Amino acid sequence: MTKKLNPDFYYQWHEPFESVVHFFKAALLQVGWGEDNTKEVVMDVGCGPGETTTQLILPLFPSLKKVIAIDKLHDRIALACAQNFHPAIQFSVADIEEWSTIHQWKGQITKLVSVHCFHWVRNKKIGLEIFTVF
Ligand SMILES: C[S@@+](CC[C@H](N)C(=O)[O-])C[C@H]1O[C@@H](n2cnc3c(N)ncnc32)[C@H](O)[C@@H]1O
Repeated sequence: MTKKLNPDFYYQWHEPFESVVHFFKAALLQVGWGEDNTKEVVMDVGCGPGETTTQLILPLFPSLKKVIAIDKLHDRIALACAQNFHPAIQFSVADIEEWSTIHQWKGQITKLVSVHCFHWVRNKKIGLEIFTVF
């Protein structure tokens, strides 16, 4: 049986967990993320409509080169482009489990983040293997 992803269901109550906010605003700073970030190309996997991308990821890297924010659902990327446009963010439809949709960024990504997404990834082995070749 194929289960359909329903992000609208999730977004009725969307608020990033306090732990996620702490992770971006404190924990990552402690390990040096955000320092001299002018050359960073950050990939946000499973960006949804882009709120986390603009509200948590961008502030962590205020002068980064760009964020490549991907989601496998076209409607999420359309929403992200409409509601969270930012010149430093490239929102794209791509599936972390499908190499053909993401190979174009091979060798470009310097930091990779994924918020509330990996529990949605069906084949976690492939998803994680792809992370390692970036
Ligand atoms: C719960 S939402 C989280 C969205 C956003 N990161 C946030 O924190 O608000 C999970 C998102 O992951 C996306 N997703 C699930 N599997 C994916 C995959 N294999 N590749 C890319 N995106 C995926 C879904 O379409 C959905 O928009």
